Amino acid sequence: MAFCLTLRMKCFSQLTRIYSSNASNFVGLHCIPAIAMATFQKNTGDMFLPPVLTLADEGGMLNRDLFVKTILLPAVRFNKKLTNTCLKALKPKAVAHKPLRNSPSDPEEKVLLLNPEIVSSDNVISLGEAGITFLEEHNLESKFGDFPLELKYSDWTSDEVLRSLLPKGVEVPTGFSRIGHIAHLNLRPEQLKYKHVIGEVLMDKNPGLKTVVNKTGEINNEFRFFNMELLAGENNMITTTKEHGHSFEFDFSKVYWNPRLSTEHTRIVGMLNKGDIVYDMFAGVGPFAVPAAKKGCSVLASDLNPESFKWLERNVKLNKINTGSIRTYNLDGREFIRDIVRKDLVKRAEEQNTCCDPHQRTHVIMNLPSLAIEFLDVFPSLLQSIPTGVRGHVQLPTVHCYCFSKEVDTASDVLRRIEAVLSHSIEGALVHDVRDVAPNKEMMCVSFKVPAPVIFGCSTEDLYEATEAPPVKKSRTE
Ligand SMILES: C[S@@+](CC[C@H](N)C(=O)[O-])C[C@H]1O[C@@H](n2cnc3c(N)ncnc32)[C@H](O)[C@@H]1O
Repeated sequence: MAFCLTLRMKCFSQLTRIYSSNASNFVGLHCIPAIAMATFQKNTGDMFLPPVLTLADEGGMLNRDLFVKTILLPAVRFNKKLTNTCLKALKPKAVAHKPLRNSPSDPEEKVLLLNPEIVSSDNVISLGEAGITFLEEHNLESKFGDFPLELKYSDWTSDEVLRSLLPKGVEVPTGFSRIGHIAHLNLRPEQLKYKHVIGEVLMDKNPGLKTVVNKTGEINNEFRFFNMELLAGENNMITTTKEHGHSFEFDFSKVYWNPRLSTEHTRIVGMLNKGDIVYDMFAGVGPFAVPAAKKGCSVLASDLNPESFKWLERNVKLNKINTGSIRTYNLDGREFIRDIVRKDLVKRAEEQNTCCDPHQRTHVIMNLPSLAIEFLDVFPSLLQSIPTGVRGHVQLPTVHCYCFSKEVDTASDVLRRIEAVLSHSIEGALVHDVRDVAPNKEMMCVSFKVPAPVIFGCSTEDLYEATEAPPVKKSRTE
């Protein structure tokens, strides 16, 4: 055994010498153009990175043809019938990305590219026992050597390409929101000089992307959509996107849509039961309303932006929602509650005398975080004028009120502000952190049942007739 091993080691060193002297005979170095030879790198950590090309100035163009580079990689050539055997012996030593290539000179041959950090073309020992045995058994000793691999624009990721193009000190954009065929960026001031190139690279590197836009200035104050400019691709802002199996179509330049809210939409819809009543006060294009209706809730949804309303209606159809389960409105939130919702609550309370589902619950969704707390002023005395005999049948709505807080104790801050508008304490409120929208600014959702004295505009003692059963039981908000 010891003898065999010594023999093997002797053999290795002989082979090593052979390979060293023959290295340049392998895989046709003659076919590499002189200009590319000058760019050869070997065994350096960043040999796989693109060449460093600097965009000289504002408006610097993206020239994809400049992204060419040839590197030398250790490799083994073999008859393609041996592919499986070769992979078995050498796969652990191969490069991670596309290790198996066609031979440029012989259609019957394949080339396995090896990781230059593990294998050195002038040292056969670096192939390891399995690799050497493979070479020996198939007489492939002369086919181990350097392989000139040409890398081009399509071989690098957007991050690598942009890193090579943007000057030092300008960070590569780390991400973007994807809305159907649109990428939405929020570039930093120092990146703006390179905005078109950034847009083009992202479009090249993300299949299906046809439009790249950048947020300009602040969000539109009233309807919450972003002002944006086109960076690359076609100027088509009408897009279709999916959220948890539901399709939404809209004009991204005219309505609010934020893919970062998808988890929140699902969380709220997850709290709803079939048969629940849902009033969506700031419905947008329907990311709460559509899945809620699809789940079997009775939905009334409104948005003041005529464009949102138009697409909300479109999305009801697109998702084949039974028109009996959803009604849509183009109203101001307060008007929606004071008129439509009020009437609906009263009608349902009156009907509860004959039909009553004890599990049915009523929800009001208020996703306009910058203002929703102020809009809570619609609830005090909303049902003051209804007969006391009907009050016991009103399902007190659970409100899901979105808001922002910049305070250290965000939960206390939002609860205090809500109670101030209602002039009443809210028991059992559930405060949920939705996301950080900026450093020290949290978006939250507070779910609570509107207290009976608030909605009926009277003291607890005067709420119900003496003969009446106690009001709706206190129930969970989640
Ligand atoms: C933050 S977006 C939320 C949209 C949708 N609910 C979502 O989760 O994506 C707020 C929506 O409120 C609408 N809006 C703004 N002011 C309004 C008002 N006074 N009454 C009704 N809707 C309003 C905007 O048009 C926008 O669609």
